[in-house]
Amino acid sequence: MTANIQHHCNLKPFNTFGFDVKADAYFELNTQQDITMLQGVLMQHPQYFILGGGSNVLFTNDYHGLIIHNKLKGITIVDQTDDNVFVKCAAGEQWHTFVLWCVQHGYAGVENLSLIPGTVGAAPIQNIGAYGVELKDVMHELTALDLHTFTTTVITNAGCKFGYRNSIFKNEAKGQYLILDVTFKLSKKPQFNTTYGAIDAELKKMDITQLSIKAVSDAVINIRKSKLPDPAVTGNAGSFFKNPEVDEATYLALKNQHENIVAYHLPTNNYKLAAGWLIEQCGFKGVQRGNAGCHKLQALVLVNLGNATGNEIIALATEIENTVFEKFGVTLEREVNVVG
Ligand code: FAD
Ligand code: EPU
Repeated sequence: MTANIQHHCNLKPFNTFGFDVKADAYFELNTQQDITMLQGVLMQHPQYFILGGGSNVLFTNDYHGLIIHNKLKGITIVDQTDDNVFVKCAAGEQWHTFVLWCVQHGYAGVENLSLIPGTVGAAPIQNIGAYGVELKDVMHELTALDLHTFTTTVITNAGCKFGYRNSIFKNEAKGQYLILDVTFKLSKKPQFNTTYGAIDAELKKMDITQLSIKAVSDAVINIRKSKLPDPAVTGNAGSFFKNPEVDEATYLALKNQHENIVAYHLPTNNYKLAAGWLIEQCGFKGVQRGNAGCHKLQALVLVNLGNATGNEIIALATEIENTVFEKFGVTLEREVNVVG
């Protein structure tokens, strides 16, 4: 059996920025047999990058190595108690497909994370989050293939060292593991979290009087559709930057100068600043630089307005970072994974 490796593969359909780049080699994982063959493939192509839905990557150039594209599918209940159900989901399932499966089955926990693009296998990498919930709140454990030793290992929630848009997979274990599946601990007795952002207001607008998992999911979907660009129409990778965290003294000094600054108080007594507000105050919301742009409804999202290259987006990102630093003394950190 020989592995089906494609050469000079066009990655435009596989990254939500829609960059027109190629990979020297491309290998799709659809079956258990493909995983078995991967070791041999990696011997031929030791330089590799794991790709899911391509919704949080920015390719600056053609990729001179192997793209491993995870498309493994399957959702299974592996255990349950009176209160909880443990669901194992293969890494190549679309995240939102998994959320809709949970909503349909009446299992609570991921409804606030509705409509986040990408795959289940990528969700632990940056500990995806939205509307007051993060992956760390619902993930039990995951199975990963260690690409250094070619052994399969189970990593617990604690073992992932999750933080805000962070985990071991972005630090000491970067590139080491191919996540094969993720097991979630979901609730049969929902406790709704509707206080964040505009969820309550949206539920009111929808005339919802009886809360349900589906109602919360629908409200989140409506809010997201109202401000985030659809990658099928306008290339983007969601928030380009993280919301920066500053200590109390820095926050108070900023607040003193900019009384409308948007910030969230953290349990550590630090503050998380809304990067979208900082960027908008610097006049970038809706600007265009060639084919690169800053989204007109959400300044934290950089967009491909035509045939932008990754480097055009990076140039705009750098301009934004420098201007925000000059005006506020705050350093923006990129959320998007730059590959090139
Ligand atoms: P990719 O972009 O393909 O890869 C991302 C990283 O994960 C890469 O480093 C890659 O190597 C690694 N990776 C992927 N699959 C695996 C695997 N199986 N094993 C090991 N490593 C792997 N994110 C949020 O947190 N919250 C949001 O609200 C949100 N909203 C978004 C809205 C839009 C419109 C868009 C375009 C993006 C948004 N994102 C959001 C970012 C993105 O959806 C997430 O980061 C998502 O988890 C990326 O999934 P992916 O499969 O596309 O990963
Ligand atoms: N704001 C502005 N101008 C803007 C955008 C935002 O002033 O152009 C201010 C507003 O005051 C707004 C506040 O910032 O109320 C927060 O904005 P929003 O609710 O849109 O959330 P965010 O902080 O910009 C974060 C995540 C999103 C996630 C939403 C909802 C990060 C980096 N981003 O955005 O995640 O969907 O909260 O929970 O934490 C992603 O990671 O790709 C992503 C889209």
